[in-house]
Amino acid sequence: MAIVKVHDKSFETFISEETIQQRVKELAGMINKDYAGERPLFIAILNGSFMFAADLFKHLTIEADICFIKLASYKGMKSSGKVVTSIGLEEDLFGKQVIIVEDIVDTGKTLHNFLPKLMHQQPKSLKIVALLHKPEAIEYPLELSYVGFEIPNKFVVGYGLDYDGLGRNFKEIYQLV
Ligand code: IMP
Repeated sequence: MAIVKVHDKSFETFISEETIQQRVKELAGMINKDYAGERPLFIAILNGSFMFAADLFKHLTIEADICFIKLASYKGMKSSGKVVTSIGLEEDLFGKQVIIVEDIVDTGKTLHNFLPKLMHQQPKSLKIVALLHKPEAIEYPLELSYVGFEIPNKFVVGYGLDYDGLGRNFKEIYQLV
């Protein structure tokens, strides 16, 4: 098992590159099936979801739009929960089939605060695809239509996820030792 050091903390391999890629392909397959003949708009939440969104998008065979928005500030190892900004959403969502792309749903607060803003625009449908979900950490229950992996309530880095800015470049996902 590989150990990596990020800032002051040690992390061990938790989900391999191959397992992530396989699962992302499966999620895309489900979306291809559920949205056959449609043209959904993917809204990927930066920064954490950039890698997942890119890989997921590559496996789509349906027509699809994608945009990237920035929402929350997340400092250190505790979710601040505060949604600071929502920059970059220029699309009109009225009547559209929207799929939110998140790296991880932890307490659920980020999306809980953001979804009403999207619903206000009256999309035809609004679903969430999250690569990771920590069921034990949830404080604001959300309906997650597609989940890559349910994981224990431990801090993770890699594949887009950071610990204080670092670790996003790892191809694997690592868990705090
Ligand atoms: P929530 O609002 O508590 O659901 O937190 C969502 C955001 O917190 C995610 O989009 C991540 O940016 C960040 N986050 C939560 N847990 C972790 C983690 O284990 N590693 C890295 N970032 C995390």
